[in-house]
Amino acid sequence: MSILVTGGAGYIGSHAVLALRDAGINVVVVDNLVYGHREIIEPLDGVKLIVGDIGDRVLMKRVFAENDIDAVMHFSAYAYVGESVENPSKYYRNNVVSMINLLDEVVASGIKKFVFSSTCATYGCPDEIPISESCPQAPINPYGASKLMAERILDDYDVAYGLKSVIFRYFNAAGGDPAGRSGENHDPEPHLIPLVFDAAAGLRAHISIFGDDYDTEDGTCIRDYIHVTDLASAHLLGIDYLTESGESNRFNLSNGLGYSVLEVIKSVERVSGLSVPVERVVRRAGDPPVLVGDSAKARSVLGWDPKYAELDTIIQHAWKWHQKIS
Ligand SMILES: NC(=O)c1ccc[n+]([C@@H]2O[C@H](COP(=O)([O-])OP(=O)(O)OC[C@H]3O[C@@H](n4cnc5c(N)ncnc54)[C@H](O)[C@@H]3O)[C@@H](O)[C@H]2O)c1
Repeated sequence: MSILVTGGAGYIGSHAVLALRDAGINVVVVDNLVYGHREIIEPLDGVKLIVGDIGDRVLMKRVFAENDIDAVMHFSAYAYVGESVENPSKYYRNNVVSMINLLDEVVASGIKKFVFSSTCATYGCPDEIPISESCPQAPINPYGASKLMAERILDDYDVAYGLKSVIFRYFNAAGGDPAGRSGENHDPEPHLIPLVFDAAAGLRAHISIFGDDYDTEDGTCIRDYIHVTDLASAHLLGIDYLTESGESNRFNLSNGLGYSVLEVIKSVERVSGLSVPVERVVRRAGDPPVLVGDSAKARSVLGWDPKYAELDTIIQHAWKWHQKIS
């Protein structure tokens, strides 16, 4: 028995692969390596890497026919908000159309368990903080809209074809494998923490703070950083939940703790011992001041217990990886 991990050579997917292997579960990864890292996945025992596109139905039919796959964890997608505004076609094509191709092969192969990576971007600019699963979903960019469409498709595939899914809405994924086996390495890099590292290490002139006049304690935006290893552990619980309950469900994955941009920068300075040059610029359109998630449901229903909530711990693990790759 194996679990198929799409996008398993990417940032979050590779941590799920490590968690599955640590639990002794065999893994098949399908990744087209547009953003993935072969060198993280290929050396792992019990992991088969298939380089290809999840939208390729001929390939996926073969993957399901040749491997005894029990469940799918679907991480592969494009996930750059700004790019999705400039090129929505790319996002709807990969995050929706290719996913439908994948889903049709999942259904044809008789698999009933599907775990999906959704996002807090489906909530848009919520009125209510912390954001719970019952908050209205009103995405403000094509990336968030593509993920909300994918959620709707999963609901409909449950009703029509009996495909059961756990949908996880992640807040800001951060950190790296505590044992240093994987971490974040995007090119281009859209995420704050690795960009702050680059500024600390002199690889970029400064980190830009987009707005310091928000209605928050220090005026900068607040986000909910969730350790990537804690995201990975939730995925294993998601498979257990589908096996035991046979029901579809959706869960926020967050710490419920908000940290401001300035707090992240200070934490990087503490952890790295370096100072971070900053540039204060005007607000970016569409940046909500505060995004903090309520993950009580995942904790009570799944028994999820995130281990690395402290910001300094998240930054330490991320810094360890950043030093390894730079
Ligand atoms: N990083 C975050 O903070 C965050 C937050 C919320 C949700 N998510 C979601 O989590 C998932 C993983 O995000 P990530 O940060 O690890 O991204 P990532 O880009 O590091 O990983 C995605 C992987 O999927 C692969 N891929 C993309 N399209 C593919 C296709 N059509 N066929 C095969 N492989 C393909 C890429 O090569 C890459 O390895 C995405 O679905 C993303 O939307 C991420």
